Amino acid sequence: MKKFGTSFVILMVFMVICTSGLNVAYGKGNGKDPSLNPNRILNVAHRGASGYAPEHTLVSYELGERLKGDYIEIDLQMTQDGKLIAMHDEKLDRTTNGTGYVKDYTLAEIKQLDAGSWFNEKYPDLAKPEYVGLKVPTLEEIIQKFGRSGRYYIETKSPDVYPGMEEELIRILDKYKLIGQNAPSSKVLIQSFSPESLIKIHSLNPKVPLVQLISYSKPATITDEELNNIKQYAIGVGPSYTKIDQEYVEKVREHDMLIHPYTVNTREDMEKLLDWGVTGMFTNYPDILNEVLKNR
Ligand code: G3P
Ligand code: CA
Repeated sequence: MKKFGTSFVILMVFMVICTSGLNVAYGKGNGKDPSLNPNRILNVAHRGASGYAPEHTLVSYELGERLKGDYIEIDLQMTQDGKLIAMHDEKLDRTTNGTGYVKDYTLAEIKQLDAGSWFNEKYPDLAKPEYVGLKVPTLEEIIQKFGRSGRYYIETKSPDVYPGMEEELIRILDKYKLIGQNAPSSKVLIQSFSPESLIKIHSLNPKVPLVQLISYSKPATITDEELNNIKQYAIGVGPSYTKIDQEYVEKVREHDMLIHPYTVNTREDMEKLLDWGVTGMFTNYPDILNEVLKNR
């Protein structure tokens, strides 16, 4: 009897460990968490609702939330004085009235710039007077605005240009208590095209769920070996939707990994990817993705 009891305890411990591993991967038993449950399609408001408002501004993120994106997507660059700001490009030129590299300016200097007027000029049909003079937000300002009710899908951009970027990111996420006790309880997902950046973040805090972005120059396949390598530190992959097919998606899902293609802006493409079995996607139009999901 005593021997049976010991075996039973060992079996139970083993099962708890196995189940907890699955929970880390997929958030089973936590249906409220959209990020890590493959049965809940993740709607990521790419650069905010950037199909309607100037990307990476608070206005665009607010709209992303209002249009019911599950996450707001934030690209990070770092200023000369080490502050993380929301911006896609290494240079200021495209999305502000400034010129040159972010790394060569202090935050105070970047705060002088207009991050909204370019949108009105480029998209006159969508232009609004209130976009004029919008500021470039810092990561901390975004988190202060949306708090712990927000969800943040954050990308380390050009990490080789910004030594210390990962440490600063983890410091801020810790400060605002956005990193959970395990992956499903995290308020953030971190993504990067740089495996080195993700591996560094994983070593700084293995509880943060990570997604490996992948850039392909032509139609792509992915091997078991590649997925097993990525799985050492990340829970999913993010390829361009234009370079993948159903076989690619199924291969990723066979590995119990998430797949969030970018950047999907038409109903037709959304439907196709959902048919293939993706677990979420980045879109500039979270409202359109929600309509598609509602009608399936
Ligand atoms: O992060 C997903 C997608 O945003 C990657 O492409 O260039 O828009 O950051 P990019
Ligand atoms: Ca991005």
